[in-house]
Amino acid sequence: MRIPFIAGNWKMFKTVHEAVVFVKELRSAVKDVADVEIVVAPPFTAVHAVAEAARNSNIGVAAQDLYWEREGAFTGEVSAAMIKEAGAEYVIVGHSERRRLFGDTDAIVNRKTSAAIGAGLTPIVCIGETLEERERNETLAILDRQIKDGLDGLGAPQLADIVVAYEPVWAIGTGRTATAAQAGEAHAHIRKRLRQWFGADAADRCHLLYGGSVKPDNIAELVAEADVDGALVGGASLDVKSFTEIVVRSRRAAV
Ligand code: 13P
Repeated sequence: MRIPFIAGNWKMFKTVHEAVVFVKELRSAVKDVADVEIVVAPPFTAVHAVAEAARNSNIGVAAQDLYWEREGAFTGEVSAAMIKEAGAEYVIVGHSERRRLFGDTDAIVNRKTSAAIGAGLTPIVCIGETLEERERNETLAILDRQIKDGLDGLGAPQLADIVVAYEPVWAIGTGRTATAAQAGEAHAHIRKRLRQWFGADAADRCHLLYGGSVKPDNIAELVAEADVDGALVGGASLDVKSFTEIVVRSRRAAV
């Protein structure tokens, strides 16, 4: 029912030129992959050019953030409608770097998520605990709060169409991937909560991605976990070869 979903979060990397060269290469590398949803998230400046380069391919495009207002005097911000018009179908919301460096709270994540859905974008909502929270045994409680507050007000049909990314903060950019068992445990918990709060149908359709030091050599064991439906990849998504390897190795029997 859920085919694997692999998204590359480029963060603040790649010029327009580099982004277009990347997508042209990726296009031919993954042209025969029909059973994986493939998404790249360039910086805002390259969203339109990447969407053009990916047109009529099996590659989708995401922005990395948005502002919840439609338009107005909000210097430096970009709205969901603008992102959609530039050619993206997805938008990352609440990445831990936004939470930690730019003050995005669960309430802000909630507004951004609703705005994305309202404009017809699919939000990829990021949640995850810090190392201190894990060591204090608070992981599941933190995830509960982030889901409850971040997705507040959404109905079951909306939940079914969004993507949730579990990204333990201690695993991001550190080379320290969560073990498959740790990812599996967190994902099973998230799925259980989504079932309780939104119903089994919607929860079973929602894609749950793992993020944090995903590489070609650990993707297979991660997606072997029943509730891990794919990955949000940072560093390893910047190179066509390693990103393609991750896409190819994410394939498994659909659950
Ligand atoms: P890394 O894959 O570089 O650890 O980054 C993960 C991430 O933050 C994806 O959003």
